[in-house]
Amino acid sequence: MAKKALVTGILGQDGPYLAQHLLSQGYKVYGMIRRYSNPNFENLEYLNLMNEIEYVDGDLTDEASLMGAIKFIRPDEVYNLAAQSFVGGSWEQAKLTTEVNALGVLHLLNAIKYFAPTSRFYQASTSEMFGLGLNKHDGMQDEGTPFHPRSPYGVSKVYAYWMTVNYRESYKMFAANGILFNHESPIRGIQFVTRKISDGVARIKLGFAKELHLGNMDSMRDWGFAGDYVKAMHLMLQQDEPDDYVVATGENHSVREYAELAFKHVGLNWKDYVKTDPRFQRPAEVPNLKGNSEKARKKLGWEPTVSFPDLVAMMVDADLKRVEKRNR
Ligand code: NAP
Ligand code: GDD
Repeated sequence: MAKKALVTGILGQDGPYLAQHLLSQGYKVYGMIRRYSNPNFENLEYLNLMNEIEYVDGDLTDEASLMGAIKFIRPDEVYNLAAQSFVGGSWEQAKLTTEVNALGVLHLLNAIKYFAPTSRFYQASTSEMFGLGLNKHDGMQDEGTPFHPRSPYGVSKVYAYWMTVNYRESYKMFAANGILFNHESPIRGIQFVTRKISDGVARIKLGFAKELHLGNMDSMRDWGFAGDYVKAMHLMLQQDEPDDYVVATGENHSVREYAELAFKHVGLNWKDYVKTDPRFQRPAEVPNLKGNSEKARKKLGWEPTVSFPDLVAMMVDADLKRVEKRNR
């Protein structure tokens, strides 16, 4: 019989890529969606998956809805990708961010504990938990680096991380944290800097915009391709023992470098179009993320396959097509 996987956050960026990977491995995939007046299936449509998923209703802030879903599906694997995932918005909506990202995970762990205790659980943890933390030896972050989160988002994810570890230790649940560094794709949310730039470049190139307003251009991120990263999530749940893993490329670049490459890809100079704008500065910044994913590479056999320049080109090309189509 096909394995059953429940994916929360199915309409986001990672949900569709993970669903695509699980379907290719023969899984039956259930996707959780919350009540919305007008749900947006664009990302699933982008990968042609809309009709491949069985949808279940649920909201991480509503424990009973999660119990209902887990009891109904009794999944072999649960991937918790749902979150208020925008760091920049987490100061304005700190309580909501906490309710979804922190308490929501507790709700889901309880639902699994009561109704599917042998189900394997993946928690979408993040490099934002490290914040200012750096590994003393190489200036990178790995599984042993102390957490020093810098945003309500980062703080909420630290709670979820430790709750996942705690349920593993307390109830012997198969619960794993993937500590993923930034990963992007053509279906990345438009607020995130890489997609904001690729969309801005496309609109400028095609004559629909004149400038692009950005915040901190010095910020350094370790950017990989989402399609690679979801494979690490799956591998974590196929191991003999549950554990926590950093997933990263090991290379980082500044926002400025990303913008420079993206504009160059369409024959433009970023300096002619980018304006720095204090509205996009954060109250506290994470200046430098670079992950050491040696453990994932050795134990899971995971490797990233898309280089930084190829990722930038992939995103700009996809937005050029999108903007052209929208305005045809
Ligand atoms: P995303 O595009 O923002 O998707 C998040 C999804 O969560 C959306 O589909 C959203 O639903 C859903 N959601 C939000 N609140 C919910 C609630 N109360 N109940 C149920 N669903 C809810 O995020 P992503 O980039 O795919 O990231 C997936 C996960 O990995 C997130 O937990 C994120 O924090 C974490 N993460 C991401 C990265 C990265 O670089 N992408 C790195 C490390 C960790 P709607 O579509 O209805 O809004
Ligand atoms: N969004 C945004 N918009 N960011 C900007 C801008 C802008 O106009 N200008 C500069 N930046 C800088 C931010 O200050 C930050 O340092 C960096 O670009 C990346 O910002 P985002 O793309 O919003 O991502 P993030 O690193 O804050 O968070 C993402 O990665 C985390 C993993 O490290 C999200 O996907 C999180 O959910 C994820 O956990």
